[in-house]
Amino acid sequence: MALRLGDEAPNFTAVTTEGTIDFHQWLGGGWGILFSHPKDYTPVCTTELGAVAKMRDEFDKRGVKVIAVSVDAIESHHGWICDINETQNTRMNFPIIADPDRKVSTAYDMIHPNADDTFTVRSVFIVGPDRKIKLTLTYPASTGRNFFELLRVIDSLQLTAKHRVATPANWEDGQDCIITPAVKDDEAATLFPKGMRKIKPYLRYTPQPNK
Ligand code: BEZ
Repeated sequence: MALRLGDEAPNFTAVTTEGTIDFHQWLGGGWGILFSHPKDYTPVCTTELGAVAKMRDEFDKRGVKVIAVSVDAIESHHGWICDINETQNTRMNFPIIADPDRKVSTAYDMIHPNADDTFTVRSVFIVGPDRKIKLTLTYPASTGRNFFELLRVIDSLQLTAKHRVATPANWEDGQDCIITPAVKDDEAATLFPKGMRKIKPYLRYTPQPNK
């Protein structure tokens, strides 16, 4: 069955380009992002891995560990990394899991047979410090992901884990947030000393509390 938000991220041991890992140990009680690639030596995947390598410091700033997976073998991954470094003008700086037996892809339901029964789709799982799944995303092989959007979601997830707010459409870090409906107006005054802007009883904004 497909993994759902709030489910525990399945644990696994796997060979990666940075050695063998136990996924839960590797997470180490922090945030993590696991994303799948349909196949090595393919153009869109090459650009995606290069893009993430260039953004690595943004994930580090947020305390998020990054790991990719593809069903190809470890030797193939090592060769492909040379191409990624060369063509994307970067240096790979996070592990790629080799999943030739599809242990990880199956546990995370990354192969969608009606799309393709051999390659994984482009899945993303964001895992919280409690090892629970906080976000799932599925893109087709033909569409490269927007990793800036994933950083935006991480900002929202980390904010809303600590404060009783939600983030509105197209929210970006630093913009006003929505006070969650469970918070009463009189409570809001204490919880959000920067103020409350009330548009409707259910639609109340406050400046981002952690800024
Ligand atoms: C790609 O990464 O370019 C790709 C992979 C599988 C199917 C189509 C495109």
